Parts: sequence; C-alpha cells; structure tokens
Amino acid sequence: MEEKKKVIFSGIQPSGQLTLGNYLGAIKNWVKLQEEYDCYFCVVDLHAITVKQEPKDLRTRTLEVMSIYMAAGIDPEKNTIFIQSHVPAHSEAAWLLNCYSYMGELGRMTQYKDKSQKYGESIASGLFNYPVLMAADILLYQTDLVPVGSDQKQHLELARDLAQRFNNLYSETFVVPDPYISKTGAKIMDLQDPTKKMSKSDDNPNSFILIMDPPEVIRKKVSRAVTDSIGAVKYTDEQPGVKNLMTILSTITGESFEEIEKKYEGQGYAQFKKDVAEAIVAELEPIQIKVKELVANKAYLESIYKAGAEKANYIANKTLRKMQKKIGFIPVSK
Ligand code: AMP
Ligand code: TRP
Repeated sequence: MEEKKKVIFSGIQPSGQLTLGNYLGAIKNWVKLQEEYDCYFCVVDLHAITVKQEPKDLRTRTLEVMSIYMAAGIDPEKNTIFIQSHVPAHSEAAWLLNCYSYMGELGRMTQYKDKSQKYGESIASGLFNYPVLMAADILLYQTDLVPVGSDQKQHLELARDLAQRFNNLYSETFVVPDPYISKTGAKIMDLQDPTKKMSKSDDNPNSFILIMDPPEVIRKKVSRAVTDSIGAVKYTDEQPGVKNLMTILSTITGESFEEIEKKYEGQGYAQFKKDVAEAIVAELEPIQIKVKELVANKAYLESIYKAGAEKANYIANKTLRKMQKKIGFIPVSK
C-alpha cells in the first residue's frame, strides 16, 4: 500500500506586492517540498483585512499571489491552491479556537506588539486574534509541517499550544504541527536598514525588491543597497548589509558563503553587487513572464481556485465537525 504523505500548509497575505523575502523565505521552499508532501498553499485574504485594504486592489492582488505561486513552480495538479475566504471553516474554527486562547499569550506576540505601537488604541481586534486564525488554517488540515520565514516562529508555537490544549482537554483531535524554517533565506533583510526584515509595507521602496520589479529597477535597488566602508565581501555580523546580499546570492545560486568570499577576495563591492543583481534578475524574470500570462487568463485561474476550494472545504469541514462534536454542539442531521 502506498504510504500516506505528510501534510504541508502555508500561506501568504495578499496585502501588498510580494517581496524577494516572501519568495526566498517561503515560496522557493514550497517548490522544493511539493513532491514529497501533500501540500495546501493558501492565499490568506482573511488575514489581509486585519489592516485596511482597497477592495479593488485586494481582488487584483489575491489573483496575483495565486499566479505567483504557480509561476514559481507550484503545480496545481499536484497541490491544493486555494483562497482562504472560499473555505468558511477557517473563520468558524478560528472562533472556536479563540475560546481556548488566552489574552496573555496573544498579547505577547511580537508582531501584535509591533503593530499596536503603530496603531495605538485604534488597532483592529483582528490583529490581536490574527494568530488564532493562522492556527485554525494550519490545524484544519491536520498539518505536519509549516514552511515559513523565521518571523512566523512565534505564531507557530501558538498553533502547537492550541492543538495540544484542545487535544488534552477533549481527546486527540489535531496533529501538532512543526515549523519548517530553512537555514538560508529564512530572514531576508531590508536593503536600506539591514538590521530589520525586508517588508512589503516599508515606506521606502529602495528597502525591498518586489518579485514583480522590472530588471532595471532590481539592478538600481541592489546598487543602492547599504553596505559599509570595510570593503571586503565577508559573512560577518559586523557587515549586516554585505551579509544580507551574500544570503540572497547563496539562496539563489546554491553557492556557499566560503565560495562567495573566495570569489570576491581582494575586490570591493562593485562586481559583487552586479552579480547579486544579475542572479536576482535571472531568478525572477522567468517568473514575471509567467505571472503576466496567468493573470490575463482569468478563466484558468478560476478553474484552479474552484477545484482548490472544493478539496480544501472537504478536508477542513471534516476537522471542523470533529471539533464541534467534541465541544458538545448538537449536529444537525442530514
Ligand atoms: P507575509 O508577507 O507576512 O504574508 O509573509 C508570507 C511568508 O513570507 C511567511 O512565511 C513569512 O515568514 C515570509 N517572509 C516575509 N518576509 C520575509 C523576509 N524578509 N525574509 C524571509 N521570509 C519572509
Ligand atoms: N501569518 C503569516 C504571515 O504573515 C501568513 C499565514 C496565515 C500563514 N496563515 C498561515 C503562514 C498558515 C503559514 C500557515 O506570514
């Protein structure tokens, strides 16, 4: 008998244009994992509305994110690609899990603490409950492994805690998921301030590279990336800008840090930066061409997200019914 494949679940918010960080920290790993696992790749639009979204842009970006998944090499025949709001069980399971989550543990989430500094008293309560919805996403599919960037580690700990809490309170209901955080690319840093993570919500466009940035923009942004006055290509904490560019290069080409250091020994940063830019362009350009083709083909995209929703609804509803039954809700007979 064929052994049952382990389950992977991951998602990205359609809340802005995706960056090189999303690509190297998340999507590129998904592509590698798709053969070995039963994968669910979700466009998490319910998460995106925790901050203000223009309806028109949200629609466009949701389809663009889906297209990027496929253009990067996620095969829709082998994986389940779907849109979170097409599976109502996510919202419902999130409510149920909210009743087993503590204000204290949610208040300790660093992403929430950062955002609450920005928004103050008028922070949406959705941002507070955000990690509970993420836990629902993961637990509904009996997920074994969650490939994410290192910024999501704390949210994943909460998903594990909630799974264990529910299992202990009732009986075995959820698989307790493990994070999958790759050694390289787990945290791509801001090009202008390499002490913070590259983020699509930064005000300065020179601080990030978008997956859809045209080649000449990529070249310009890399040439302007902040380095230092040391002038040696070395992987050390004293040179965070250079370290970040080396990480980008290594994650794309597979070269080790030692190999890169050797290659640029005795040279300044000019050729190194040029090569980093060309590696990014070579990686992203074919993806961009495919994304443009895909977004123009609405009927094809619809066929993918419809099939994805059907499969996802089936699995998610099975787990949701299990939760309802254990909690003590009366099932409606069919
Ligand atoms: P988000 O854009 O917040 O929906 O993040 C989607 C995925 O991309 C998550 O797995 C993040 O951990 C990952 N990610 C976002 N920014 C970065 C970054 N700068 N470096 C590495 N991974 C990232
Ligand atoms: N919170 C994640 C992020 O911002 C996105 C996300 C939502 C996610 N649900 C998920 C990632 C489930 C992995 C699994 O990066």
